[in-house]
Amino acid sequence: MLQVLSMLYLWLKAGHVIFVIFWMAGLFMLPRLFVYHQETPVNSPENAVWTDRERKLMKIIMAPSVAVVWILGLAMAVTGGWFTQGWLHAKLLLVVVLTGYHIWLARYHRALARGERGLSGKQLRLLNEVPGILGVLIVILVILKPF
Ligand code: HEM
Repeated sequence: MLQVLSMLYLWLKAGHVIFVIFWMAGLFMLPRLFVYHQETPVNSPENAVWTDRERKLMKIIMAPSVAVVWILGLAMAVTGGWFTQGWLHAKLLLVVVLTGYHIWLARYHRALARGERGLSGKQLRLLNEVPGILGVLIVILVILKPF
């Protein structure tokens, strides 16, 4: 099994990076949809349209992507014997935070659908710093492997 995974290592990496792009695109896009969604009146037909758009983005793009990123990332970590390396521990910590952010977005989506408007548009725009900063740190860790 490990031998097969070793032969496929570069394919695993290509798939990993491709699905990282899809996942990150969704993480950046969803709060933007929330900004427009929040401007619609509660219980209006527009409210339902935005809820549906967000649900499709999460169901079709983001949920499958985060699953594939985790599966391929862990498969490479096992195959490459990377689990002893400090950079992978740090990267995993940051990816867990990013996954937590994803889960928080899914909860905010459900709250919006119920008519709750927890954050202002400006706060939602600022939230896009979260995946931005985490993405920069994660890529530096995995490419430079500083420790
Ligand atoms: C979900 C958990 C994740 C795990 C377990 C994981 C693990 C790994 C491993 C073991 C490698 C191969 C390193 C090598 O061959 O040198 C890798 C490559 C990579 N990962 Fe992840 N990763 C995860 C999530 C992410 C995320 C969220 C991002 C970006 C935001 C990311 C970006 C990258 C990039 C750009 C590479 C290619 C680096 C290169 O050029 O070799 N990974 N990942």
